Amino acid sequence: MNRALRLHAYCSPDALKIDDIAMPSAASGQVVVHVRAAGINSLDWKIRDGFLRNDFPLPLPVTLGVELAGEVIEVGQDVPGFTIGDRVMGPMAGLGAYADFIAITSNTLVKTPASLTDERAAAIPVGALTAWQALFEAGELKRDQTVLIHGAAGGVGSFAVQFARRARARVITTAQGINAGYLRGLGADEVIDYRTSSFWKLTRDVDLVLDLVGGAALANSWQVLADAGRIVSTAAPDIAAQTPPGNRGTWFQMRPDAALLAEIVEMVEQGAVRVEVSEVAGLSDATAAIERNKTGHGPGKAVIVF
Ligand SMILES: NC(=O)c1ccc[n+]([C@@H]2O[C@H](COP(=O)([O-])OP(=O)(O)OC[C@H]3O[C@@H](n4cnc5c(N)ncnc54)[C@H](OP(=O)(O)O)[C@@H]3O)[C@@H](O)[C@H]2O)c1
Repeated sequence: MNRALRLHAYCSPDALKIDDIAMPSAASGQVVVHVRAAGINSLDWKIRDGFLRNDFPLPLPVTLGVELAGEVIEVGQDVPGFTIGDRVMGPMAGLGAYADFIAITSNTLVKTPASLTDERAAAIPVGALTAWQALFEAGELKRDQTVLIHGAAGGVGSFAVQFARRARARVITTAQGINAGYLRGLGADEVIDYRTSSFWKLTRDVDLVLDLVGGAALANSWQVLADAGRIVSTAAPDIAAQTPPGNRGTWFQMRPDAALLAEIVEMVEQGAVRVEVSEVAGLSDATAAIERNKTGHGPGKAVIVF
């Protein structure tokens, strides 16, 4: 039996169902992974609620889920470095992680160290890769610069705060006040409660805004930028259309990078980077857990276990 959490229709409360689907087999360059845990992302409810249906039309039903940890049970041709029984983790190149068994291109995966549980491993790939690439590749953040991270207590932000701190940047964050202690523990210099304060009145000369929220957070961020400052957004695909003349605003999309993921996992193993799992849900509770991700949740990342 291969259970999969599949979307059958857009914008419907009953849109997600657990189906029994065919067992996959490994094509060339792929492995079949017995999934033990998969990270929940806001992409799940954004797809479910139809926000992306015009830009990224999907053939329904479709299995959701963009990152996983599990065990290799079959190895295709031309797969160097992996054997049956390896524990692995990584992002999907597309969708499909919410299933007991999946076929996945091996070059997006890394081996999971023995010290890392599958739950924690599944909470790393998308959040950590997005945070690193958005800060240092798209955002070109440098030592002694000031970064403002919106949505800092979430799955991406929790890593972004730690990476920016390690790069010796000054780290200002926005989050619910209840998460202030958590974020200071990760290395934030300042935490601004977005529910009670107007960050644009409290901060200025920001070299990089990492926008993980969009909407009003993005709209109010142009005024806090330093002269050569910029905004990198993972939440507003239309940021180019919103960018005032003379400003720099960039949409950023994560790309799988096994070498970078391996470096980040090493940092986690050494205790230099923390992984916060806010919730562990079973597959039967996955629909509710995805809804909780939409409506507000604890700090860090929720995962589904299989
Ligand atoms: N482009 C890409 O490749 C890519 C990759 C990953 C993620 N993303 C996107 O990046 C965004 C962040 O992802 P994520 O996984 O970190 O999401 P997440 O775990 O849901 O975190 C979002 C955080 O933002 C907080 N928040 C909500 N409204 C806020 C506001 N007005 N000001 C400040 N913080 C606010 C939330 O706190 P409460 O819930 O407690 O209010 C939550 O902690 C999402 O839009 C996601 O779709 C894009």
